[in-house]
Amino acid sequence: MGELLGARRRTSMCGEVGAESVGREVVVMGWVGRRRDLGRLIFITVRDRSGLVQAVVNGDEAAPELFARAESLRGEYVVAVTGTVSRRADKDVNTSMKTGEVEIIVSDLVILNEAETPPFSVADEGVRDDTRLKYRYIDLRREDRMRNLILRDRAVRSARNFLAAEGFLEIETPILANTSPEGARDYLVPSRVHPGAFYALPQSPQVFKQLLMVAGADRYYQIARCFRDEDLRADRQPEFTQIDMELSFVGEEDIIALNERMMRTIFMETLGYEIPLPIPRLTYREAMDRFGSDKPDLRFGMELVDITDSVRGTGFAVFRSAIDAGGTVRGIRAPGCADLPRKRIDALALFVRDYRAKGLAWITITPSGEVKSAIAKFFTPEELGEIIKKFGAEPGDIIFICADKYSVVTNALGALRQEIARGRGMIRPGDYRFVWITEFPLLEWSEEDARFYATHHPFTAPMDEDIPFLGSDPGRVRAKAYDLALNGFELGGGSVRIHRADIQRRMFEILGITPERAEEAFGHLLTAFRYGAPPHGGLAFGLDRLVMLIAGAEAIRDVIAFPKVKDASCPLTNAPAAADPAQLAELCVEIRRKESDPE
Ligand code: AMO
Ligand code: AMP
Repeated sequence: MGELLGARRRTSMCGEVGAESVGREVVVMGWVGRRRDLGRLIFITVRDRSGLVQAVVNGDEAAPELFARAESLRGEYVVAVTGTVSRRADKDVNTSMKTGEVEIIVSDLVILNEAETPPFSVADEGVRDDTRLKYRYIDLRREDRMRNLILRDRAVRSARNFLAAEGFLEIETPILANTSPEGARDYLVPSRVHPGAFYALPQSPQVFKQLLMVAGADRYYQIARCFRDEDLRADRQPEFTQIDMELSFVGEEDIIALNERMMRTIFMETLGYEIPLPIPRLTYREAMDRFGSDKPDLRFGMELVDITDSVRGTGFAVFRSAIDAGGTVRGIRAPGCADLPRKRIDALALFVRDYRAKGLAWITITPSGEVKSAIAKFFTPEELGEIIKKFGAEPGDIIFICADKYSVVTNALGALRQEIARGRGMIRPGDYRFVWITEFPLLEWSEEDARFYATHHPFTAPMDEDIPFLGSDPGRVRAKAYDLALNGFELGGGSVRIHRADIQRRMFEILGITPERAEEAFGHLLTAFRYGAPPHGGLAFGLDRLVMLIAGAEAIRDVIAFPKVKDASCPLTNAPAAADPAQLAELCVEIRRKESDPE
C-alpha cells in the first residue's frame, strides 16, 4: 500500500549523492534495487534515472516501525528515503559505483508504492530480447539503457542549438502525406472522408523541405520521424528519426562544411571527443576500389588489391573465366591471420556466398615463410610469387582472393574485410573514423528490371560536367551527392537538388517515370519549381544510427525508447493489431486473406 508524498520533497538524485554531500540531510526518491539484511543492519540500494545510492537502516538506532518497514521492502518498491549522508568505512568503499564512497543513514523511509515481483530482475543480463521489450519500462530502469536515452537527448539538443545558432528554422512537415521518393515501401493510411484513397506516411520530408526552400524559408531543419516499410536490421527500424535539413543559395562545399561543424559539436557535447576537421573524403569509385564499400570502415587497413593484370595469363580456370567475362580478380591481405583454422576459412568462403561470390581462394604464408594454398597447384612458383608481392604479404599473413564481376568482388571483399577485422579484434574501441563519400553515380542500372533507378532520389542534381552524358550515357553521370560514413555505417546523406523544371523532367524521363505519373506523385513540386526555385540542397542524418555509434550500442533498437522487433511488431503494445470491423466499414476497407494466411 502506498503512502502519500506529503510535504516531503526530493533534494537529490540518487546518482548525484557524492562525497561533497557528507554530513548533509538528503531526501532521495526512487526504486528499490537490492535489499540485504545483516541482522540489525539493512542495506538498500535506491535507484533513479541518475544511478544508484546505498541507504542503511540501523536497527539499534532507528525506530522499530522504521526498521520493520525497511524489512518489508522488496525489489522495485517505490520509496522516499530521508537520511544523513555518511562516508563509508574505507573497506566498504565501492569503486564500481558513482556514489560508492558514501551511504545514506536512514532517518525516515516512506513506501510510495509497492510492486509485484517483476518478470525479470532489472540487473539480470540474460533476459531474452522479446521479454525485455514487452516490459520495456522495466528494462529501461537499467542504468546503461537509460544512459542511451540521455545521450540521445544530449545529441538532439546539441544539434538543435547548433542549427538555431546557424540561422535554421525548425519547421514541422506533415505525417499524413503523399508517397515519398526514397525508394522503400510506403506505410499507407486509409482516408475515411475519401473512401479508397490513402495517405502515405513520409519516408522522409524530402519534397516538403524542397517546397520550403521555394517558399523562402532559406534554412530549414527538423528532427523528423520517417517511416519505411522495409526489412528490419540492426541499423534499420520501420520508423526512425532523421536530423533533416535543407538550405538555399548553397553548393556542396557549404553543406559539407556546415555539417562537419555540426558533427564536431555533437561529438564534443556528448562524448567530449574532438573530430579532426576537415573530415577526409573519398569518391564513390575510390571507396569501392579500395574498401569494397560506399560506407567504408577506416578503423583498419586490409585494402582491396587488384591483381587482374598479374593473373591475366593464368591457366587457373576460375580466374580465367572471370577475366574473360569482363570481370576482375581482387583480394585482401589479412595481416597476422595465417593461423586462421581451416574451419574458419571454410566459414568465410560460405560468408562471401551471401554476397553472391561463387568462391573464395586463399594463400597462407606461414610464419616460417612456407606458402600454402589449395590453388597453388594452378600457378607457377613465379606467378605465385608475383601475386604475393602484389599484396605485399609477409610471413604470418593470409591472402583472400575473389574472381567475379566488379560489383560482386568489391561487395564480397568489403564485407569480408569487416568480418575479419571484427573477428580478429582489429578495431580499437573509442575510435571514430568519419569519411565523406562523394561523386556517387546519379543512376543505378537494374539488370532485373532493365531500367535505371535514382541512386539517391530523383531530385538529386547531376554534376555540371556530366550533364552532357544524360542523353548519351546516363550510367556514367555522377551526382552532386554526398554521404557521411562513420565506422562502416552510413550516418547520413544528401545532395544538391535539381531546381530547374526542365532538368527535373529529363530525370523523370530517364527513370521511366511517365509525365502523368510524375505529375500525379510530384506534380506539386514540379509546379512549385515554375514559380521561382532557388538553388538549394540538403542532407539528413539517421539520428538513431548516430546515437547508436555515440553510445557504443550494437543496434539502433538500443537507443530507441520503444523499438519494434524483427517482424516490425511492438511486443509492448502488440501493434499492429486487427481493427474493429466497424472502423473498417467506416473506412470502406475490407480484409481479404491471402491463400497462405492462417485463419
Ligand atoms: P536517406 O534515405 O539516405 O536520405 O536517409 C538518410 C539517413 O537516414 C538513416 N536511415 C535509417 N535509419 C534507421 N532506419 C531506417 N530504416 C533508415 N533508413 C535511413 C540513415 C540514412 O543515411 N531525404 C534524403 C536526405 C536528403 O537528401 O536530404 C534521405 O532520406 O542514416
Ligand atoms: P574449384 O576448382 O571450383 O574447386 O575451385 C578451386 C578453388 O578456387 C577453391 O578454393 C575455391 O574456393 C576457389 N574459387 C572458386 N570460385 C572462385 C571465385 N569466383 N573466386 C575466387 N576463388 C574461387
